[in-house]
Amino acid sequence: PLISLIGAPTDIGAGARGASMGPEALRVANLQSTLEAHGLEVVDRGNLAGPRNPWLPPTEGYRHLAEVVAWNTAVHEAVHAELGLGRLPILLGGDHCLAIGSISAVARHCREAGKKLRVLWLDAHADFNTNVLTPTGNVHGMPVACLCGRGPQALIEIGGQVPAINPKWVRQIGIRSVDAGERRLVHEVDLEVFDMRYIDEMGMRHTMELALATLDANTHLHVSFDVDFLDPPIAPGVGTTVNGGPTYREAQLCMEMIADTGRLASLDVMELNPAFDVRNATAVLAVDLVESLFGKSTLMRK
Ligand code: ARG
Ligand code: MN
Ligand code: MN
Ligand code: MN
Repeated sequence: PLISLIGAPTDIGAGARGASMGPEALRVANLQSTLEAHGLEVVDRGNLAGPRNPWLPPTEGYRHLAEVVAWNTAVHEAVHAELGLGRLPILLGGDHCLAIGSISAVARHCREAGKKLRVLWLDAHADFNTNVLTPTGNVHGMPVACLCGRGPQALIEIGGQVPAINPKWVRQIGIRSVDAGERRLVHEVDLEVFDMRYIDEMGMRHTMELALATLDANTHLHVSFDVDFLDPPIAPGVGTTVNGGPTYREAQLCMEMIADTGRLASLDVMELNPAFDVRNATAVLAVDLVESLFGKSTLMRK
């Protein structure tokens, strides 16, 4: 595939400052040349622009809603444009609220192209809060709910159709932190969640076999990778660590099994926060995992 890197340097939906530095940290960790070494053609489109972070308390359960809408609109247009060129966009976050813009663009593209959409949400969190359920008002805790039509009008209609996606298209993996009200809503829409208890008992291999079942030749596979998916000791560079995530080996297997499907068509790498990182190690790890996602393997050469 032809790959386009799109930087979205903002922490507008997060509870800690610093994810705005994520795109540059991924570049410094050699994301582009690492992918090119696998024979992939990669263009870096540079960074999107948007409003600064005013760092205000929530109003009506949202922090910075107008700014979140502005950033997501920019992300939506940029991602949709790359898909229209037949390219594979990689969104460099930036906090996870930006998945609203990214995935709504993917959904719009799939409608236009007559493709089936499957979203893999790799995260410690379900990100299924609403303004009344959220304990924080941070919109990075709400993108999956917004995409499923539960959210403020200005955010849920960004893709031109409400809801942007059907919850049945989503598989969440690695989840280990869900707020009380959020949990009720996850059950209400019957979201398919492979939480850490499931991965502990059944293993990453079985988990991914189920999460990737029923993909076909006409499926657009989108991966939304929140770096806090990973176990904090190997990935300290995020704002919202939760103990007990996938190990290095489990994360590698997860990425390799996605690569094996050959269906990956768009990607978000989100929540990387260099302010919490140690010598850019989390960015380097994220690049290593993305390399596996694009088919790096020890013995087999494709
Ligand atoms: N559930 C918490 C909240 O709503 C944390 C969300 C963390 N989300 C993330 N993308 N890191 O604030
Ligand atoms: Mn998370
Ligand atoms: Mn997230
Ligand atoms: Mn690798």
